[in-house]
Amino acid sequence: MKKLIIRGNRDLSGEIHIGGAKNSVVALIPASCLTKGKCVIHNVPDISDVGILIKMMEYLGSKITYENEVLTIDNKNLKVKPIPTEYSSCLRASYYFMGSLGGLFHHAEISYPGGCTIGARPIDIHINSFKKQGFKVTEKDGTYTLDTHKLKGQDIFFDFPSVGATINVMLTATLAEGTTRIINAAREPEIQNVAEFLNNMGADIQGAGTAEIIIHGVKELHGAEVTVIPDRIEGGTYLIIGALLGKNLKISGINRDHLFSLISKLKDAGVSMKINKDSIIVNKSKNLKAVNVKTSVYPGFPTDLGQPMSAFLTQCKGESLFEETIYENRLRHIPYLTTMGANIKSWDKKAVIIGNTQLKGRKVKATDLRAGASLLVAGMIANGITEVDNIEHLLRGYENLVHKLNTVGADIKLIDE
Ligand code: EPU
Repeated sequence: MKKLIIRGNRDLSGEIHIGGAKNSVVALIPASCLTKGKCVIHNVPDISDVGILIKMMEYLGSKITYENEVLTIDNKNLKVKPIPTEYSSCLRASYYFMGSLGGLFHHAEISYPGGCTIGARPIDIHINSFKKQGFKVTEKDGTYTLDTHKLKGQDIFFDFPSVGATINVMLTATLAEGTTRIINAAREPEIQNVAEFLNNMGADIQGAGTAEIIIHGVKELHGAEVTVIPDRIEGGTYLIIGALLGKNLKISGINRDHLFSLISKLKDAGVSMKINKDSIIVNKSKNLKAVNVKTSVYPGFPTDLGQPMSAFLTQCKGESLFEETIYENRLRHIPYLTTMGANIKSWDKKAVIIGNTQLKGRKVKATDLRAGASLLVAGMIANGITEVDNIEHLLRGYENLVHKLNTVGADIKLIDE
C-alpha cells in the first residue's frame, strides 16, 4: 500500500514540465499491434499504466525498449494470444487490443477491461461496432472473443461519442475493406494523436478531432513514429494547484488549446495567469469567486478534471454548482473533502460547494485516479498534514508526481508500506 503524506500550504514557484498524455499513450501502444514493423513512440510518460502495457506487449511477443521517454516496439514476433485477466483487469485501455489484434489477426480474446470504478462503464458501443464491421463476438464468463474472415467498411453511428469506441473503430477500420464512417465520433485530442500515428503507419484516416471520421481501408500498415501529445489532465491538475498556491509557477510543455475549458473557468473565478502557447504562468489569486462547472465531452469541461476542480471550488467565495455528466459515480471523493472541512451538499451526480473554507489535514483515501488528484489538491492547501491512502490509483496517471511537486516547493512524502 502506498500513501502520500502532504504538509499543506506551501508556496510553489519554479517550473513543472508536463509529460505525455496517459489516455493517448495507452491507445498508441496497443495500436502498434496493427503492424509487424518497428514503431517508435516519443514523449512516453513514466506511469504505471505504461508499465502494464509493456508487459502485455511482451506477453504477445513484442520486443520493447523504454529509455528517456522513448518506447521502441519491435513486433516482428507478435502473435495473437488470449490476454489473461491479470493484465486486462489492470486498466481500461486493454480493450484497445480488441481493435488492434482483431484488425491484424481477425481474432482477439480478452477479458473485460478494468480501470477506475467510477460507473458501470459498459462496452456495448465497442461490441456493436465490431459486429457491424463483420466480427462474430462471443462472451463467456467475462471473456470476449472476436472472430472474422473479413472486415468490411461500414457507416457506424454512435449513440454517445465514446472515446474508447471511436479509437477502437479507427483501429479495426484501417485494415478493413472499403470505407468506414464514424458519425457522432468523440473529438478528444487523444483521438487525433492516435489517427496521426495510424496515418504515419500508412492508414488513410480523415476528420479525426471532428464528429465525423472517415477511414479508407488499406491493405497493410508499416512501422512508424509518433509523439505523445501533452497530458491535458496532468497539466490541468497542476494549473489548479498553481491557482491556489503558485508564486509565478510555470506549467510548461502544455497545449493551451486543449485546456481551453479549464482556463476559461479559472479566469471566471478570478485566477491570474499569463498564457503562452505551450506554457502558463499562474499565481495564487485572492478573492476567488464561485463558478458553476459541468463536465461534458470535449471540448466541454473534462470529466477527468472535475474532481480536482471540485477541490478548487472549496476556495471560491459563494456557491458553486458542480455537475458530473459522464460517469454515474465520480463524486466518491466528496465525503473526504467534507471530512477535511469543505462545505458541500451532494446528491446524484451534483454537488453544491460553498466556499471559502479553510481545509484541515486529515487521513483520506483515493478511491480512484482523479479522486486521488482531488485529495492531492485538497491536501496541498490544507492546514497541517494530510495522509492520502491508496495512491496506487494516482500513480497510474501522474508521472514523477512527488518529485515534480517537491521541486517547486511542496512538502510531500511517498510512503510504501
Ligand atoms: N459508454 C457506454 N458504452 C460504451 C462506451 C462508453 O455506455 O460502449 C459510456 C461510459 O459508461 C461513460 C461514457 O460513455 O459513461 C464515456 O465513456 P468513454 O467511452 O468516452 O470513455 P472511455 O473510453 O472508457 C476514456 C478515458 C477516461 C475518460 C473518458 C472520457 C482512457 C483509457 N480512459 O475512457 O479516462 O474519463 O475517456 O474522456 O482513455 C481517467 O483518465 O481518469 C479516465 C477515466
